[in-house]
Amino acid sequence: MKKSLGAKTLLFPTPVLMVGSYDREGKPNLMNAAWGGLCCSDPPCVTVSLRKARHSYDAILERQAFTVGIACEGKMAEADYCGIASGSSVDKFAAAGLTPVRSELVDAPYAEEFPVVLECRLVQTVELGIHTQFIGEIIDVKGDQAACGEDGLLDIMKIRPLVYDPSHKGYHGVGSLLGKAFSVGKGFLK
Ligand SMILES: Cc1cc2nc3c(=O)[nH]c(=O)nc-3n(C[C@H](O)[C@H](O)[C@H](O)COP(=O)(O)O)c2cc1C
Repeated sequence: MKKSLGAKTLLFPTPVLMVGSYDREGKPNLMNAAWGGLCCSDPPCVTVSLRKARHSYDAILERQAFTVGIACEGKMAEADYCGIASGSSVDKFAAAGLTPVRSELVDAPYAEEFPVVLECRLVQTVELGIHTQFIGEIIDVKGDQAACGEDGLLDIMKIRPLVYDPSHKGYHGVGSLLGKAFSVGKGFLK
């Protein structure tokens, strides 16, 4: 029997997304967001949900663009720092030793040190309550060569993305491959 935990934001796993934007002064900023993920295949879109108090909030609206970096095990402390300090009072790139790179496709920066980045054009915002959902069309995905396998595709075991546990507020890593999607369930097809 299951016990009720109430109406809460509990979902497992959630990603650890590094949302990049330029503020009004043109300063690059990076914030940690766990409320987000892919939301459309064609056009390819990703969503992140931000509270209005975030420095990144106005920045994304003004530039109509943001980037989404994938936080990785090797940069866990830097990723967490971007979730506890605000760009309103500090240059997080400089403080965390991260290198800002200007996207050539959208008006937003990303950190060179995270292995994969999605460059996004803001296409829609949805007022949900305490959070506003920002939906971005993915204009390009850029990945480090070292994050790709021999087949040239991004390899999750090389990216080593962080996984966030909203229940205990912890960062986890990903485990090994358990099975092939669209395949292991075929035995149940009639
Ligand atoms: C693991 C983690 C996940 C977070 N997820 C979100 C989120 O999804 N949305 C949000 O608005 N803030 C989230 N935050 C908080 C912001 O990252 C934090 O308030 C940050 O300082 C905002 O930066 P900014 O003011 O420079 O935009 C998260 C923080 C952490 C540590």
